[in-house]
Amino acid sequence: MSKIKLINVGEIATYNNRTKNIDYIIDKEILIIDGIIKNIDEDIIDTCKIFDCKDKLVTPGFVDPHTHPVFLDGREEEFGLRMQGATYQEIAKKGGGINSSVNGVRNASIEELVTLVTKRMDRFLKLGTTTVEAKSGYGLNVESELKSLKVLDTVNRNHVIDIIPTFLGAHAFPPEYKNDHDGYIDLLCNEMIPAVADQGIAKYCDIFCENGYFNIEQSRRLLKTAKKYGLTPRLHADEFEDSGAAELAAEIGAVSADHLMAISEVGIAKLADANVTATLLPGTTFFLGSTNYAPVKKLMEAEVNIALATDYNPGSCHIQSMPFIISLACIYMGLSVEDALISATFNSAKTLSLDREIGSVEVGKNADLIIWDLESLIEIPYCVTDVPIMKVMKNGKFVS
Ligand code: NIG
Ligand code: FE
Repeated sequence: MSKIKLINVGEIATYNNRTKNIDYIIDKEILIIDGIIKNIDEDIIDTCKIFDCKDKLVTPGFVDPHTHPVFLDGREEEFGLRMQGATYQEIAKKGGGINSSVNGVRNASIEELVTLVTKRMDRFLKLGTTTVEAKSGYGLNVESELKSLKVLDTVNRNHVIDIIPTFLGAHAFPPEYKNDHDGYIDLLCNEMIPAVADQGIAKYCDIFCENGYFNIEQSRRLLKTAKKYGLTPRLHADEFEDSGAAELAAEIGAVSADHLMAISEVGIAKLADANVTATLLPGTTFFLGSTNYAPVKKLMEAEVNIALATDYNPGSCHIQSMPFIISLACIYMGLSVEDALISATFNSAKTLSLDREIGSVEVGKNADLIIWDLESLIEIPYCVTDVPIMKVMKNGKFVS
């Protein structure tokens, strides 16, 4: 049996499912046995290993519900082109964008990708992310999509971070289907989804539903097929233009609609009705040099649940830090720090159906915790690019 007690905890900031708000719990100790939080109380009497939190802040580990970590090389040359005025869509039209990461993944070995993804997971963990959703999506054929999912599974088995894999074969039309979009949808529905289901690694199926990528009909067909094969839908929706993707997310019963910078009023109402979480990715808006942040206030007024994620990928958002995403959400979207923390922990766990195990500091939950070198929650966004973390704990063990 492994036991540890956290003493001198200055403040625990965590979501309370009864009040639907953040609790600030002061002067309590946390007892952890075999990776599970067993007690949160004053002066817990138990003879075990002790860790002194030095009166600092403790929060749940971050749950990042939208990332694309399986790629070979960075795309810094595209970043440079944007500085000269090219847009993300223009670069993509000229053969850059998602497709420029495809050759790298197709030609890479599993081992090469495992090494890279492991390093990326080390970094996530250092930044306080203890669970991460991760998508395939740079293989875009049967073999390389299965390979990408295999990479995620291998890293998940060997790394302390928890990785939740998503199949994103519908990320872009690969070069060989440039002029036969319906042919690629046929391949996705008739071969790739059955093969992915058979492989048994992916839990979710995502699609880039956007004008110029996958249209509504194609997305509906793909996600219906995915559901038949036991893969739960989540969508890249209304990122650059309103294409009715949020409405489709509601119609199809997706767990999450992501991006939503261009969502319509109708789309907002439909997400609320169907209880679809809006996963917002302010890092992408920031990284692309845009000012068009998703309308979080309107979404919250309509009582849509909000989650926050990094969207870490080589093209549109080369950011892994959830603390920085919280800064962006506070500064540019006007989210309170409490709502930002809920969105980056409990609500994001909920979109991955993990809110019973993780996402808050509660008795019975996994001890996935961040012990900050800070006294108060607001200092997280206030520090912007600094990440003053004293310790990260995953399943009751210090991991960084
Ligand atoms: O979420 N929007 C689609 N997919 C990614 C971009 C991936 C890439 O550019 O490589 C995103 O922003
Ligand atoms: Fe994305």
